[in-house]
Amino acid sequence: MITPYDDAVRRAAELAVRGPRTGENPQVGCVLLDASGTIVAEGWHRGAGTPHAEVDALSKIEDAHGLTAVVTLEPCNHTGRTGPCSQALLAAGISRVVYSHKDPGVEAGGGAQVLRDAGIEVIGDVLPAVGEELVHRWLTANRLGRPWVTAKWGSTLDGRIAAADGTSQWITSSESREYIHLLRSQHDTIAVGTGTVLADNPSLTARTPDGNLFPNQPLPVVIGKRDIPSGSSLWSHPRGVLNESGELPEILERLYGIGVRSLFLEGGPQLVNSFIREGLVDEYVVCIAPLLLGGDRTSTGDLGIATLTQGRRLTVLDTKHLGGDIVVTAREAH
Ligand SMILES: NC(=O)c1ccc[n+]([C@@H]2O[C@H](COP(=O)([O-])OP(=O)(O)OC[C@H]3O[C@@H](n4cnc5c(N)ncnc54)[C@H](OP(=O)(O)O)[C@@H]3O)[C@@H](O)[C@H]2O)c1
Repeated sequence: MITPYDDAVRRAAELAVRGPRTGENPQVGCVLLDASGTIVAEGWHRGAGTPHAEVDALSKIEDAHGLTAVVTLEPCNHTGRTGPCSQALLAAGISRVVYSHKDPGVEAGGGAQVLRDAGIEVIGDVLPAVGEELVHRWLTANRLGRPWVTAKWGSTLDGRIAAADGTSQWITSSESREYIHLLRSQHDTIAVGTGTVLADNPSLTARTPDGNLFPNQPLPVVIGKRDIPSGSSLWSHPRGVLNESGELPEILERLYGIGVRSLFLEGGPQLVNSFIREGLVDEYVVCIAPLLLGGDRTSTGDLGIATLTQGRRLTVLDTKHLGGDIVVTAREAH
């Protein structure tokens, strides 16, 4: 269904992605429209503790009486580190509120009803898929009570992640690796198993193509009982390094408890396999290089799947051609 607010929702979504994908709050954008439908102010959320998108947009205009606020997420009705947006919109004299995706939060939801009860016209679910994509990770993490998990690996065309001697640097192109560094910077943590730390001595920093650090450096988490060697590059990581062992759901619960909402799982195959078997992966980013290695170092091992109908059928969100590789992003249905 086409509505008069579709373009404004799309613009609000463009603004939303200026905010961080990491941290405990979702990306939200807002535009204020005058009676002719012209945008008179724009705002977006810059992360936990900073003004919400609606308040950011309101701060850029002297008089908001009679304006329409178009937001990617239903205005919150919650006092956290900042006040409820529903009250801020009412106080500013906004006469209509349009939102793309409903906020199902137990604490923060219900803003639309508060606005309606106060006599404001509220129009919901305008281009809901646009708003949903912006909050998908955040909603999934909150619903499951664990960080969103993106599993990434680089493999050959025949599904191998290392040669017979364990070497795997580099199977994929420098262009793919640049993209992976960008994705690292969009997560709260990067996790690897002790096997990968011992085999590859990774630094796990998120670097720009010219070698500088991205402003957001995810916290490296090494999973396993073995110690991180004293000479490991991880000891020089700007965030330090966390060593975790035990059951994976409990590790994820602990990370959620310290504010981690997204985890980039970079291997190796044993650890990734366990995450998949336990149903703990939400999204896969697989870089496939035009290379054949053969052998038994496959990207996944036994996933506990006995017959085709038990296979994990994924939805492909995106494919890219990067430096000769094909990069596939696919999502679990849960
Ligand atoms: N192509 C790629 O994308 C890619 C990426 C990463 C690694 N690699 C390659 O993979 C190889 C290393 O792989 P790997 O499989 O030996 O290492 P890994 O998956 O990084 O580490 C395996 C270790 O993780 C720990 N662990 C903790 N909880 C676990 C759980 N629930 N399930 C499984 N493991 C758990 C165990 O260590 P403890 O015994 O210490 O408890 C286990 O031995 C290297 O050749 C490396 O180059 C390739």
